[in-house]
Amino acid sequence: MSSKILIIGACGQIGTELTTKLREIHGVNNVIASDINTRNLDLVNSGPFEIIDAKNYNAIKDCCKSNTIKTVYLMAALLSATGEKYPMEAWDLNMNSLFHVLNLAKQKTIDKVFWPSSIAVFGPTTPRESTPQHTICEPTTVYGITKQVGERWCEYYHEKYDVDVRSIRYPGIISHKAMPGGGTTDYAVEIYHDAIKKGNYECFLSENTSLPMMFMEDAIKATTDLMQVPSESLSIRSSYNLSAISFTPKDIFESIKKQLPEFSISYKPDFRQAIADSWPSSIDDTMARKDWNWKESFDLETMTTEMLTQLKKKYNS
Ligand SMILES: NC(=O)c1ccc[n+]([C@@H]2O[C@H](COP(=O)([O-])OP(=O)(O)OC[C@H]3O[C@@H](n4cnc5c(N)ncnc54)[C@H](O)[C@@H]3O)[C@@H](O)[C@H]2O)c1
Repeated sequence: MSSKILIIGACGQIGTELTTKLREIHGVNNVIASDINTRNLDLVNSGPFEIIDAKNYNAIKDCCKSNTIKTVYLMAALLSATGEKYPMEAWDLNMNSLFHVLNLAKQKTIDKVFWPSSIAVFGPTTPRESTPQHTICEPTTVYGITKQVGERWCEYYHEKYDVDVRSIRYPGIISHKAMPGGGTTDYAVEIYHDAIKKGNYECFLSENTSLPMMFMEDAIKATTDLMQVPSESLSIRSSYNLSAISFTPKDIFESIKKQLPEFSISYKPDFRQAIADSWPSSIDDTMARKDWNWKESFDLETMTTEMLTQLKKKYNS
């Protein structure tokens, strides 16, 4: 029997598109999608799917053993804005799910793990411009704390138990398929939907808040490329800095307005402004470019064109 892949939290913003790409690469039946619910019916019906709670070690282990799963992508998490509302739930889910998967790799039930970290590992004391790979990390959100601690555990399991775990500090991810799940960069997705649907957008961040962002196609390519690189090429086992574009709400508004001249915006910052203010505005990802030849394809203008084209199709059909 050939070895297979399990995606935990496959129905989310990134998992949905990651599942599709991995099935293109490895074949539909070699990629098992799983989530705690079946809300995303398109994904659920697109190939093998199981209900798995990421906090349930036995459920993950049973699925891995019965399907000869050798690689796990752990995408389930509570994100930054939701984590501030439910701090203990964020800690419980984000940490325990990671331990379950790392322990399965330690016991050699599985061979390889992908676990996403985030720019949320950084904090107000981190250098904000061109944030280096190795720098001060004093996160001020529960989500950021779980990602920082998770990174330490990933490196520890690699060093002590030879676990092949790979990770990226994703910036804010922008996509047109599944909606984002409660992060601070969600505005950069919502703005495109409202531009098409309503012609105006009320932004929960202030106009000059610059944050690192990336179009989904680039994020998926980075993820699948990182997982295919020979293990010995990788020098970072905590999590790789990764960057593509940095922009403010004003920049994205102006980019949309070039194509939709009637579009208008207003700004009403809420609790997410403080989270955004604690994060970097741009990222130095030299290590990712050097170790596995990372290079982005989309800039703000090409991303805007693609987002508006796809969303117009979606809302017109
Ligand atoms: N989207 C971004 O901009 C971004 C940026 C940085 C890092 N990340 C990281 O990437 C990963 C995926 O993010 P996303 O944006 O797709 O998140 P999302 O919130 O859109 O999706 C998470 C998925 O996990 C599922 N889930 C929740 N609790 C679960 C449980 N107990 N068991 C199984 N599944 C459960 C949800 O149903 C959902 O489908 C997360 O680790 C996140 O921290 C995302």
